[in-house]
Order: sequence, then C-alpha cells, then structure tokens
Amino acid sequence: MEKINVAHLVKSEDLNHHGTLFAGRMAEWFVEACFICAAKVTEKPQNVVCVNIHGLTFTQPGNKGDIINMETSVAKAGRTSFTVYGKITKNNSERIVSDGFVTFVFVDENGKTTPHNITMDEAKSSEEIAIRERAKNLR
Ligand SMILES: CC(C)(COP(=O)(O)OP(=O)(O)OC[C@H]1O[C@@H](n2cnc3c(N)ncnc32)[C@H](O)[C@@H]1OP(=O)(O)O)[C@@H](O)C(=O)NCCC(=O)NCCS
Repeated sequence: MEKINVAHLVKSEDLNHHGTLFAGRMAEWFVEACFICAAKVTEKPQNVVCVNIHGLTFTQPGNKGDIINMETSVAKAGRTSFTVYGKITKNNSERIVSDGFVTFVFVDENGKTTPHNITMDEAKSSEEIAIRERAKNLR
C-alpha cells in the first residue's frame, strides 16, 4: 500500500518536565499522521472517524531539535473499518522509536457506518507481511 510520510521538528513547546519530547505531543502527531494517510486513501476525510488508538510504545526519547519522521500505510481493511500502521523514526536513523496502529471507520453524513471500498494490494516485503499479521491480531 502507498506510504505517506510526515515529519515534525521537536521545539521547546513540545517538551515535558524532563526536557524531552512530551508523549502526548508524540501521540497527537502520530494520530494526525495516521489520519492524513486515512484521508488520502479514502479521498474523503469528512467521512473518516477514529475508533481505536492501539498501543504506542516509546523506546527512545525525542530531544529538542530532532526531526521526528512518521511513515504510515494501511495495514488492514475490513468492511467499514480500516487500520493504519505508523512507524516513527528520528533524524536520519532507521531505528524505530515507536510504532503502532490506529483504526478508523468510514461513516456517511449522518455518522452511520458505510463501506469504504479500500482494497488491499499484495504485500511487497517481509516487513509489510509482518505488519499486516500484527494488524490482524489487534483488538
Ligand atoms: C465509529 C462508530 C461510528 C462505530 O460505530 P459502531 O456502532 O461501533 O459500529 P459497528 O459496530 O458497526 O462497527 C463498525 C466497524 O468498526 C469496527 N470497530 C468497532 N469498534 C472498534 C474498535 N474499538 N476497534 C477496532 N475496530 C472497531 C468493527 O469491527 C466494524 O468493522 P468492519 O465494518 O470493518 O467489520 C462509533 O463508535 C462512533 O461514532 N465513535 C466515535 C468516533 C469519534 O468521535 N472519534 C473521535 C474521538 S475523539
């Protein structure tokens, strides 16, 4: 599936009382990046609502001046719901700082669930196969 990239610069106002990136800010950026992917894939952002933010584990702190990179793609498509995977790295490193999934539901103008018609393509790498497997086992 298409990969959508979003980046953020960590600034003073993004820091917590330890002087590192505040988890709430990272979570906000993460959900926003996944939503941008959802909006692009459906081409109807007005019909997309978020129903579940699955676990987001932080393995490294972010520091002032870091560039936080978020790469997102659809990992699972149901009938009305679909799940976006997001991978977070920083600066020029490939090392994963955090990753997780956000599930969205497609709704009509009355907020009633309706099919999104997203079709999954063939997974192109072992990484993509593993991510799709993780998405299948979420709840
Ligand atoms: C999204 C919403 C319309 C779904 O309503 P619902 O009555 O749960 O709908 P359904 O039970 O028919 O489920 C619809 C789909 O969502 C999936 N789903 C429901 N709850 C889920 C959850 N917690 N996690 C993952 N998927 C979920 C269902 O499996 C189903 O998927 P499918 O159609 O692909 O098989 C409703 O929960 C809602 O309006 N939530 C608030 C959304 C919102 O305001 N988000 C912003 C929060 S600040």
